[in-house]
Amino acid sequence: DNFDLVITNGVCVTAGDIASYDIAIKNEKVVLLAPSGSLAQAKTARIIDAEGGYVTPGGVDCHVHLQEPAMFGKGTSSDTYETGTRSAIAGGCTTIVSFAPQSRSEPSLLRSLADTHTRAKGNSYCDYGFHLLVGNPSKQALSELDTLRDAEGVSSIKIYMTYDALQLRDNQILSVLLKARESHIFTMIHAENGDVLNWLTEQLESMDLVAPKYHANSRPPVLEAEATNRAIGLATLVANTPILLVHVSDPGAALRIRQAQTMGQPVFAETCPQYLFLTREDMDAPGFEGAKCVCSPPPRDKASQDAIWTGLRNGTFTILSSDRCPFNYDDANHGKKTCITAEDPIGRFKFIPNGIPGIETRLALVFSSGKIPLTKFVEVTSTNPAKLYGLYPRKGSLIPGVSDADIIIWYPASKRLDITITNEMLHHATDYTPYEGRKVGNWPRYTILRGRVVWDRDNGGVISDKTFGQFVKRGSSSLNQIWETVNKQGKFDVRNL
Ligand code: URP
Ligand code: ZN
Ligand code: ZN
Ligand code: ZN
Repeated sequence: DNFDLVITNGVCVTAGDIASYDIAIKNEKVVLLAPSGSLAQAKTARIIDAEGGYVTPGGVDCHVHLQEPAMFGKGTSSDTYETGTRSAIAGGCTTIVSFAPQSRSEPSLLRSLADTHTRAKGNSYCDYGFHLLVGNPSKQALSELDTLRDAEGVSSIKIYMTYDALQLRDNQILSVLLKARESHIFTMIHAENGDVLNWLTEQLESMDLVAPKYHANSRPPVLEAEATNRAIGLATLVANTPILLVHVSDPGAALRIRQAQTMGQPVFAETCPQYLFLTREDMDAPGFEGAKCVCSPPPRDKASQDAIWTGLRNGTFTILSSDRCPFNYDDANHGKKTCITAEDPIGRFKFIPNGIPGIETRLALVFSSGKIPLTKFVEVTSTNPAKLYGLYPRKGSLIPGVSDADIIIWYPASKRLDITITNEMLHHATDYTPYEGRKVGNWPRYTILRGRVVWDRDNGGVISDKTFGQFVKRGSSSLNQIWETVNKQGKFDVRNL
């Protein structure tokens, strides 16, 4: 056979196991797995010697905000599809699912999706799909979900229990969950009690406690645990609608999730590097610098970090995503983090747009942490996201004849570098990283997307272009046979309550 690319002498890690074998690639697919070294002489256009380094499926990051119009605070997020996805492949991420945001004033989801397609098309270094971010669950919007699923492969939505511009009331959440259940749409929920955090914010404001660090006081863990409990309750009421709690930071919330899982409910959870590597002290940096780590929920304490790692190990968390949603620190038009201006020289945490960068650092931070087994690393950063969002087995695996040749080759132990993360080495268009100065023990040496080397750290860096990434039409969520379980339960009927 004439292959397009062969990877020899690698130690391949999937969600299932770790083993040494060679990989052959043809027509954008993995086509053959063969004993280690056996393909060293194969006929192939190109061969890469992994030199004993780990080889993993490309990263799949399904919580990505890119180029969203301003919905909270001033300023727009600081990356375009072009720069955000360039950053993705340089960090080993080959597929993203980003948000098509629907604002409250927009009754249609289809229009929101069309606008997002326009921003992404021809501007993406990695493959991409979309979730609908439902800001207005109008009759029209909910009636469009079937079309979105069938025609566009949009099999998931996100809803909010906080942010004035997006927060849904409980009755609206129930309407969304019921429709999502009927249409086999998977629902992601941002669980924080928006009303209470507004109340706490007013208290802090009235005491003139406005520095970035007070962001943590305005949304203490109990707000997340309460909303998580409420979200699970609402999902249970609507006949066990499958949900995913996004960006979980609080051990109490994680415990409630685990309890629901133990009871056999289809409740899934996501966490993010910021809850494993940052603490609330990072928002207490000199001057206004703490604003660089303001996200929601906020980074917690060291004990919470440990509990979240435990939740990754014990399976409470299904996926680990970046939730990248950065805003520049020095914004030429709107002042520091779009807050400090001539007219308003005091930076107030309540005006800091929430969200931090992290699409490029996600995999290296977790891979080299030593805190979870490498099989678990692949499971939560690639395989499970692919399954949960209907991308599997095309993405998230190395199945011959089936999986796209989306692959990361890591440095072997013999070349292991101590890399100090600096913003300068990153490929986004954001002017900072919250991980500045942090050391990681490895980094993707090569990123391969559909058989093409798109990132070669030692020879050219990003070596593809922004037209190579393709829109991926997703199928239905396949994790744990979610919909079979739902179907068995029958329709929601208020008389059965
Ligand atoms: O602070 C965060 N997480 N910003 C991004 C928007 C969201 O809630 O996911
Ligand atoms: Zn601006
Ligand atoms: Zn969120
Ligand atoms: Zn988010």
